[in-house]
Amino acid sequence: MQHYRKEFKMRHHPAFIRAIKGEKVSPKPIWFMRQAGRYLPEYREKRAEAGSFLDLCFNPEMAAEVTLQPIRRFDLDAAILFADILLLPMFMGQELSFEAGEGPRLRPPLQDGPVELSHQKLHDGLSPIMETIRLCREALPEDKALIGFAGAPWTVATYMIAGQGVKDPSSLRSYAYENPETFQALIHELENATISYFKRQISAGVNAVQLFESWASGLPVEFLRAFCLEPAKRIAKALKAEFPEVPVIAFPKGAGVQLREYAEAGTFDAVSLGTETDPIWAVETLSSHVALQGGLDPLLVVRGGTPMFKAAEQLLTTFADKAYVFNLGHGFVPQTPPENVAELVKFIRTF
Ligand code: CP3
Repeated sequence: MQHYRKEFKMRHHPAFIRAIKGEKVSPKPIWFMRQAGRYLPEYREKRAEAGSFLDLCFNPEMAAEVTLQPIRRFDLDAAILFADILLLPMFMGQELSFEAGEGPRLRPPLQDGPVELSHQKLHDGLSPIMETIRLCREALPEDKALIGFAGAPWTVATYMIAGQGVKDPSSLRSYAYENPETFQALIHELENATISYFKRQISAGVNAVQLFESWASGLPVEFLRAFCLEPAKRIAKALKAEFPEVPVIAFPKGAGVQLREYAEAGTFDAVSLGTETDPIWAVETLSSHVALQGGLDPLLVVRGGTPMFKAAEQLLTTFADKAYVFNLGHGFVPQTPPENVAELVKFIRTF
């Protein structure tokens, strides 16, 4: 830890890190959720070469290459580690597969009956990811940050319970109501696994971490507090105790007005905004507590042109004198034209 902190202090902090820690950096630093992925022809080529998405995730040289592809193509401030939030349950006892056109499958689903979950395979199983991080950090210029990530316990649990992505993951709270002890133990297990996964990511070289709570929408407030907000706070606190310099970004997508509790928690450096969040509300309610990130509708980048520039301009104007990192309100979709991304980046840089 000491070594990491010293090294980090010596380096000139990247613009992204300064903004995420609350500095009003201008022009606004930029990265995009799902910036590495299927909309890029060079990604599709690498994935074909690897054989499958999972083969790509576990091949450190190839995964590092895919992490760096968007940095080479666009003028971005940060790279996000190429991996997936579902690698964790894969080493806790469920079998993970990605079937073409069908999305992820975790077998057997927890809703079909009890599954023996353990931490035992996590350490070795996730070692290739640490190697990917080392390779990326080595290759990245010092002014570019490397972002690590994990799924938040509830979001990961939804896939584990259903065994796949479902249309309305909030409905899986029925499982929690019917199996309260099993569910609480599951969240607790995921919380601990995520803490140790993040600690390893940081030790391997990531400069910030983002916790993806993709399914914070549709939940009763008490449920959201107990199973999304509190676990996220405990994860952030555990990281801060060991790595106080490393920023933690929370992305509780669809949390609505409860974003305020994330911002006021005092444990996150930044909160990422979903597509549905009103930027004016966010700037008035959240900005005095945390740095903000995101908000642009990823489908506007599919559209491109004036509607995309107008929305980007609105965000840049709203957050002009705040600590803000430009990003999307959710990930790029596969049909995003890379040329639109290039134009968007140019627009933000020269705004
Ligand atoms: O640039 C990046 O963001 C790369 C790293 C990354 C991936 N997944 C790669 C990936 C990150 C940060 C994720 C996070 C992730 N994974 C989330 C949280 C963010 C969100 O989107 O809400 C979730 C819910 C998952 C689970 C997951 N992984 C699903 C539902 C799917 C299938 C649907 C889809 O979008 O393809 C994946 C597969 C996946 N993860 C792909 C990539 C590039 C596509 C795989 C491929 O076909 O090549």
